[in-house]
Amino acid sequence: MKVIITHNNQELSEKACELIEQQVKEKPDSVLGLATGGSPLGTYNEMIKGCNHRSVDYEHVKALNLDEYIGLDKNDPQSYHFFMRKHLFDHININPDHTYIPNGKAKDLQEECEQYEQFIEDIGPPDLQLLGIGQNGHIGFNEPGTPFDRETHIIQLEESTRQANARFFESIDDVPKQAITMGIQSILKSKKIVVIASGERKADAIQRLLEEEPSENLPASALRNHKNVTLIVDEEAYQKVG
Ligand code: F6R
Repeated sequence: MKVIITHNNQELSEKACELIEQQVKEKPDSVLGLATGGSPLGTYNEMIKGCNHRSVDYEHVKALNLDEYIGLDKNDPQSYHFFMRKHLFDHININPDHTYIPNGKAKDLQEECEQYEQFIEDIGPPDLQLLGIGQNGHIGFNEPGTPFDRETHIIQLEESTRQANARFFESIDDVPKQAITMGIQSILKSKKIVVIASGERKADAIQRLLEEEPSENLPASALRNHKNVTLIVDEEAYQKVG
């Protein structure tokens, strides 16, 4: 795993954006795997600047998101569909028909998981997958204990994850209890993976990721079995390593 340590979140975001832009320039019809939450916001801001001021072209890019809450409509402001439009898709020249996120309101959720996985096979796994990491070491919404060979599936969110994400909702009671997530196996199919982690609250997860043997107790540790992973951290997230 290649590790890049930056001074702060801004530098981290610029670095992550640089890797994404390099990918898109090398292969204009790249499949990008994208994440939601606080971690990628700076990266998405930089991508928007790149598209508007440095002519980075997303016209032929396909974007595939990791996860979605179960029970939220695509137009619900707390849904990841809404998040992606608000923070990225509405501001770059990507074709909305080329953006894919699991449907958390599907009538048959199991079938939705199977179709999403099939879809990943059909359009090809991400050329580059951007990941955040949960304080408990989750990637996507694969909580601790998730087998490394799971593909897209339904997950019960841990109470700690619901609390960490409550900041995006009016109250903890509004945070859904379940989500559809690409599995660890689905994520590992990506050709390149870029993980970003910023701030002190990620320090334990980063220390464990870099110092513990891979185990299902720390879902992110599955990334140590992948050949092309770049971890970009800021000094606060890296403070407990070594
Ligand atoms: C979001 C996702 C999650 C987040 C993680 C960190 O699509 O898959 O794994 O990356 O929960 O969240 P933040 O970035 O809000 O700290």
